[in-house]
Amino acid sequence: MEKYKEQIEAAAEKFKKLLEEQLERVDRINASKESTDFASLDKIVIGVCGGDGIGPTITEAARKVLEDMLCKEVASGRVQFKVIEGLTIENRAASGKAIPDDVLAELKKCNVILKGPTTTPRAGDPWPNIESANVAMRKELDLYANVRPVCVPEKGIDWTFFRENTEGSYAVGSKGIHVSDDLGVDFVITTTEGTSRIARLAFEYARANGKDRVSIVTKANVIKTTDGKFLRICEEMAEEYPEITTDEWFIDIMTAKLVDEKRRRDFKVFILPNLYGDIITDEAAEFQGGVGTAGSANIGKKYAMFEAIHGSAPRMVKEGRAKYADPCSMLRAAVLLLSHIGYQDKADKLARALDICMFEEKKLVITGRDTGCTCDEFAAYVTETLNSL
Ligand code: IPM
Ligand code: MG
Repeated sequence: MEKYKEQIEAAAEKFKKLLEEQLERVDRINASKESTDFASLDKIVIGVCGGDGIGPTITEAARKVLEDMLCKEVASGRVQFKVIEGLTIENRAASGKAIPDDVLAELKKCNVILKGPTTTPRAGDPWPNIESANVAMRKELDLYANVRPVCVPEKGIDWTFFRENTEGSYAVGSKGIHVSDDLGVDFVITTTEGTSRIARLAFEYARANGKDRVSIVTKANVIKTTDGKFLRICEEMAEEYPEITTDEWFIDIMTAKLVDEKRRRDFKVFILPNLYGDIITDEAAEFQGGVGTAGSANIGKKYAMFEAIHGSAPRMVKEGRAKYADPCSMLRAAVLLLSHIGYQDKADKLARALDICMFEEKKLVITGRDTGCTCDEFAAYVTETLNSL
């Protein structure tokens, strides 16, 4: 391989650096075992980042509903809302960073964050091809669990996905190596603690919520090292939860089974590596009315961030339809936020109001265009419904 000697050496040098970074990260996560109990904090600071595209519109709608629900706690000083400006694609492009330093410093002063969707640059965009702000925030704040519920009562669907959020294909997703003009290589990362902590959270959730089945989803028959390790650790953990039936699936057949009306009702809790979790949660959300209706929690030991599962919908903005954007994804994220900081009764109330507005009463309907109501009108409808409960 004399011919490629220089290219191999240059690539090996970059690979060595990646390994050093990942081993440092492993040491860090191995050392940080303590989880914050958010409910027991004297004061909770909720950071609010609007993001890009339709982000500011739907985030503002969710912030208003939340502030309304927490007005007493805000007045007493237990809860503080803090709007954080600057997590925009323009600022990120100008600073050349997925999260500008000043924004990151502000984020770290909060306990939890409500975040609107942010534009993820890709090759060919007018923006520099920097890392996604979502992915960067998950890594910077070590938000290891992406928890995504999907619930469609009339179809018997009640699923909670536990997507690993800091590793897998995403861990060094923006640091793959072009070894030569003809050869590109990306990397998939699985660590022992990275897998144990997501598996633990999923099994504990199942136990605490009376869910008697957990499904582990990988492609361990082909991706033998990293998916194999992920599967083995989840299976070992399952032994500590004998009352829960654990089964294992490959991602391809699981993707099919979610469409199988006879089988899909049986699934309850899922644990998946990052990329499979990303893909399958968009599919799952479709049964509930689309990604616009699905919220997600990004849980870490020190911080947590709550967001929609979808992107910033630049086309809606370009076509002048931003005001018709659906706030339900951010409102569902707000439900998860309330529950995470210890206001379970308020979380249940907001979830109930959303079910009424989205699935039962449907006095106003969001269509994403002027054939339906606006984002603000829908948020006001939710508030009115909340007040009537
Ligand atoms: C999600 C999104 C992000 C992801 C994008 C915007 C980087 O699709 O939260 O599911 O891939 O994780
Ligand atoms: Mg996604």
